[in-house]
Amino acid sequence: MRKLVLAAASVVAIAFAGPAAADDPIVIKFSHVVATNTPKGQAAEKFKELAEKYTNGKVKVEVYPNSQLYKDKEELEALQLGAVQMLAPSNAKFGPIGVKEFEVFDLPYILPDLATLRKVTDGPLGTKLLKLLEPKGMIGLAYWDNGFKQMSANKKLIEPADYKGLKFRIQSSKVLEAQFRNLGAIPQVMAFSEVYQALQTGVVDGQENTWSNIYTQKMHEVQKYITTTNHGYIGYIVVVNKKFWDGLPPDIREQCEKAMKEATAYGNGQSQKENDDALAEIKKTGKSEIIALTPEQDAAMRKAMEPVYKDVAKRVGQGLIDEFVKETKGATN
Ligand code: LMR
Repeated sequence: MRKLVLAAASVVAIAFAGPAAADDPIVIKFSHVVATNTPKGQAAEKFKELAEKYTNGKVKVEVYPNSQLYKDKEELEALQLGAVQMLAPSNAKFGPIGVKEFEVFDLPYILPDLATLRKVTDGPLGTKLLKLLEPKGMIGLAYWDNGFKQMSANKKLIEPADYKGLKFRIQSSKVLEAQFRNLGAIPQVMAFSEVYQALQTGVVDGQENTWSNIYTQKMHEVQKYITTTNHGYIGYIVVVNKKFWDGLPPDIREQCEKAMKEATAYGNGQSQKENDDALAEIKKTGKSEIIALTPEQDAAMRKAMEPVYKDVAKRVGQGLIDEFVKETKGATN
């Protein structure tokens, strides 16, 4: 399967590398897996608008949402091959290409809020982590937010014992695998585009995601209960093919960097609202019951997931976890 994807991607890459006239715009194909009306979808549209404006049309950004071109893992391979130029995969999805350090963002309850997250992404650790992408043929341009994850299933999820024996779809992160194993559940890695159907047909029993992803994928229509856990974070690394980016005329690259900076501020400035709006929409449909945990129930969930930190230290290193936690407590500047 992997070979097939790669072969298809190289055919696409060759097709797009055909001769270009001098005044043809430079095309940036931006592929992603979520809907347009999500924090990532909106930030990608903003980048398109600004990059095209600042370069006076010398750059054309083609945004392909909803896994139209590639699913989760394939899109990273396609980027490395140059079949697309830009992506924004979640932190959880870089392990399979050999950059497991971003999984530290998946640790349960490591981030109390978005302001704390910003201290990490805007600080030295954020910069250091982006550098790990360069040997993989990509440059990390920005951190984009989605928000905090909630748990859903057709069974009420109130205490850790409720998770026992249930199958949960996860992104391809070993931290998330450890998280569900510690709850006695069975984690199953699956592409985002396949989650709705897997829930509908009972291939998996539950999943974790942000309100905006749950709403735009209609997961609430096939999950009777969603528990407000806010136990983990989903955010993205905007990555660009290094060869492509380094090969851009410097003035064009500068304009695109400016567009990225502004699109990032825009997207991150409204991610919270988009998730709040999605929650309100889900409530309106009345299709899922939204469950709130008491402080005691919340504490029991935190306790059940604590051993994940030990499991993960073996994978990403205790040093990285300590550095991350230290920066969450540090000053913003
Ligand atoms: C997921 O796979 O659940 C998310 O990473 C999808 C996304 O890009 O928000």
